[in-house]
Amino acid sequence: MALNKVKGTYDVLPTESKKWQALEAIIHQLLKDYNYQEIRTPIFEYSQVFHRDSEQSDMVTKETYNFLDRSDRQLTLRPEGTAGSIRAYVENKLYANSDLTKMYYLGPNFRYERPQSGRFRQFYQFGIEAIGATNPLIDAEVITLSFDLIKRLGLKGVKVRVNSLGDEESKINFRKALVKYFTPIKDKLCADCQKRLVTNPLRILDCKVDHKLKEFINCPIPTDYLSEKSSKHFAAVCATLTASKIPYVLSPKLVRGLDYYSETVFEIEADIEGFGAQNVLGGGGRYEGLVAEMGGPTTGAIGVAFGMERIILALEKEGVKFYEPDGLDVYLLVFDQKDMVYSMQLAHQLRSQQISVDLCFTQKSFKSQLKTALNLKSKYIVMIGEEEVKTNILTVKETDTQQQEHVPASILARHIKEKLK
Ligand code: HAM
Repeated sequence: MALNKVKGTYDVLPTESKKWQALEAIIHQLLKDYNYQEIRTPIFEYSQVFHRDSEQSDMVTKETYNFLDRSDRQLTLRPEGTAGSIRAYVENKLYANSDLTKMYYLGPNFRYERPQSGRFRQFYQFGIEAIGATNPLIDAEVITLSFDLIKRLGLKGVKVRVNSLGDEESKINFRKALVKYFTPIKDKLCADCQKRLVTNPLRILDCKVDHKLKEFINCPIPTDYLSEKSSKHFAAVCATLTASKIPYVLSPKLVRGLDYYSETVFEIEADIEGFGAQNVLGGGGRYEGLVAEMGGPTTGAIGVAFGMERIILALEKEGVKFYEPDGLDVYLLVFDQKDMVYSMQLAHQLRSQQISVDLCFTQKSFKSQLKTALNLKSKYIVMIGEEEVKTNILTVKETDTQQQEHVPASILARHIKEKLK
């Protein structure tokens, strides 16, 4: 029986993993520069971590992979990184160590969504969470970090969209206004939004179907209902971003998909031709209630997460070279199988000096080994024949220049290392 991958998943093949490693290296460096430390939480959690009473979003209610383990525990594959990180923050009392905990994560998440370009059922996110303070300067730092990532990657067609939902009081007032506005014209809304009008009216604003309705042009927006405190908070975020020359745009109808947000919300959107509908590279915002809801102190937090497949797609669409193509330092070209043990000792010597080496194990002809060496883009080819084994002097050829030298085996590693500099 031929087995296939599960719908909505993909393999990163050996020829493609370089891209991922390069992107991960850029991310680790960026987060080091901003003094974030990595947290690694389990891929599955008790379902209550995600299925909280307050969480009504489609992602959590309809798209999670839930299952019972063999002892009938109700578990869920993580659909995102925030809830698990906060669970770990509270469980390990990280708030006791510092008034602001800055952490990041990188790994797979699972959502039962309809797969399409840039949307998978297993996808990689990297995200950050700054937990413990409500200072608007931290919002500005998180948005700046997101913009910095885009800049470091060399992406050009990208927009940073920012909005504020305000605190609980602002959100309640805004929700009331939305219900008042949309109830008389309820029949014009799509079936999903008619339900949202009762369960989760905020989400009507980012409905992909209804936003085309003319009634959307003048519908209530969150910033019209901000409390004085929230207004000041958002003004401070925007002023800091402006002073830092971050090219953001105000996006009055941005509400985000998860329910835990309050105050600042933002998204990083790819504005690249032919990118497709799933063009949000990353999104985040402040969440003031989640830490306390999970049993921790009443404290503010803000974070963002990026979809790594979408970042790679954006880089490829813009033709950005963000990784070095594969390459090998040395290929050992062995004329006769009987000299393989000698060659393997030599390979071991070179590799122990961190020189990358490969050789052929399947008795191929000289021509075919040479072809392999060139395909692997080996910088040097070391030829090992009867004469070389007898004299311990090897023939070393530089692939680019075709220059050939004779080098004693005892100094080969040093010689190559010198040349590679
Ligand atoms: P999110 O907007 O649900 O936010 O996801 C963040 C990013 O993950 C999206 O912008 C997108 O790039 C990527 N993503 C989401 N679903 C998929 C999918 N099915 N396939 C491919 N990529 C996907 C969160 O997850 C929040 N936890 C972000 C956050 C952190 N807020 C505060 N802290």
